[in-house]
Amino acid sequence: MTKSTKSVSQLPGTNRRSDRREFLERSMLATAAALAAQSQWSSSALAQDSTGPISPNEQIHVAVIGANGRGQSHVDGFAGKKGTIVTHICDCDEKVGQQVCEKTAEKQNGKKPTFVKDLRALLEDKTINAVSIATPNHWHSLAAIWAVQAGKDVYVEKPVSHNVLEGRRLVQVARKHNRMVQTGTQSRSNPGMRESMEFIHSGGIGEVTVARGLCYKRRPSIGPKGTYEVPKSVDYDLWSGPAPILPLTRKNFHYDWHWQWAYGNGDLGNQGIHQMDLCRWALNESRLCDRTFSLGGRLGYEDAGETANTQLVIHDYGQKQLAFEVRGLPTGDYKGAMVGIIVEGSKGYLVMTSYSSGTVFNLDGEVVKTFNGGGDGHHYKNFEDAVRARDYKLLNADCEEGHYSSALCHLGNISLQLGTSVRKEDVAAKLADIEGPSKVGFAWDRTVAHLKENTIEDFSVSVGPALPLDSKSETFVNNEKANQMLSREYRKNYELPSEANL
Ligand SMILES: NC(=O)c1ccc[n+]([C@@H]2O[C@H](COP(=O)([O-])OP(=O)(O)OC[C@H]3O[C@@H](n4cnc5c(N)ncnc54)[C@H](O)[C@@H]3O)[C@@H](O)[C@H]2O)c1
Repeated sequence: MTKSTKSVSQLPGTNRRSDRREFLERSMLATAAALAAQSQWSSSALAQDSTGPISPNEQIHVAVIGANGRGQSHVDGFAGKKGTIVTHICDCDEKVGQQVCEKTAEKQNGKKPTFVKDLRALLEDKTINAVSIATPNHWHSLAAIWAVQAGKDVYVEKPVSHNVLEGRRLVQVARKHNRMVQTGTQSRSNPGMRESMEFIHSGGIGEVTVARGLCYKRRPSIGPKGTYEVPKSVDYDLWSGPAPILPLTRKNFHYDWHWQWAYGNGDLGNQGIHQMDLCRWALNESRLCDRTFSLGGRLGYEDAGETANTQLVIHDYGQKQLAFEVRGLPTGDYKGAMVGIIVEGSKGYLVMTSYSSGTVFNLDGEVVKTFNGGGDGHHYKNFEDAVRARDYKLLNADCEEGHYSSALCHLGNISLQLGTSVRKEDVAAKLADIEGPSKVGFAWDRTVAHLKENTIEDFSVSVGPALPLDSKSETFVNNEKANQMLSREYRKNYELPSEANL
């Protein structure tokens, strides 16, 4: 164990509190040691604390944590490549983990990864250089922080956090231990996206004052709220991690947690985080905003979900605004985009309709220029390059970028959750009193028309307060209730480390 890494027994989930705890801890360490001893990968582990560049001849050993859906794209990104190999699969659903081990072996000439159920045991394994995290959102920051403390580089899915404070903590730990932490906002590495942003930033569409993000993505009901059984192959304590252990109220165990606040962040933090990130990038703002506002609700059906399927958010940056729309009910496009962004400038506007394709229009609506080109491989490769060079500034989506954009999603959701229920007829009058929305020509009228097309005419939405923020301290101004929502209660043994204990 080198100076800058922490052993599993030092990680927060493994405090010595009782005989039972000690027993579990010892078994886990024994498991970790046995795994490492058995491991077919032990011979060529990289020097994890090296601060110098890593030779191109050395293959980076990657463990994928959370393998059900997106985790398999991570496998594709790292398996059997010249510079990377997937040596371990970690999932608290043993069935998922074992299946993905088999599939991964097929992708890397029979080299089957080792399966590990508990990420704490995994992190103890010194043969692993980097972890790639695709668990549910409530685990992202904590798993990434533990991994950094154990000396690993990290690729972590978006949003990097489930709340604002833990995102900042992740940035702090990455800097303290000089680890590479890449956010899974892969658009940032696509040539088409990078050229579009360069065009905007070099004044191609004139002065930019508004960036609109659209997340128009069909999200049907997830089925009635009920009492369902956790699949037998799942260790539910591990799955719940820092979140409370709650009865399972949704039919589908995997994925649908996105729509329950204890684990997910709604579509704002699911699909929307990609477009939120692009909007902030287009505005060239590396900070939280000066004020946030949101309204919305879960309309059209009642189910086990809690998050909004219809939501508007405004992040106010003084002279610039970031305006965001979520539509989960059937809808047409806006200016050609469904899941995309529209950046409005004094000389024209740019519409991104995917993670890599952009079209520039002049003020008369004529096409001036197009951008194209991308693929997830660019982003994984960018991570590998930064790991080799030991330089986080090479990362196209360093965790600090991920933190800001993830936090913008959380801020919108905080305003929404603090809102009061307002009848459709009374919303416009309420909006007129709020400076941010009126500045950008808010999308409320279009939202009402969209809901009407879905035969939703008699409804109320939650209209949040406009919340001023101090973006330096990343706290709300004089609002204790809102400030409490910048973090969460962490379950025992899964606490967020304090800044002093990173
Ligand atoms: N970048 C992208 O384009 C993109 C696309 C899809 C999903 N995602 C992100 O990927 C993440 C996963 O999404 P998904 O659709 O695969 O979800 P999912 O629920 O289908 O899969 C999550 C997996 O993580 C496992 N898991 C949970 N806790 C764990 C733990 N403590 N240790 C190990 N494994 C654990 C679960 O058992 C499950 O197999 C989400 O955060 C999502 O936002 C990103």
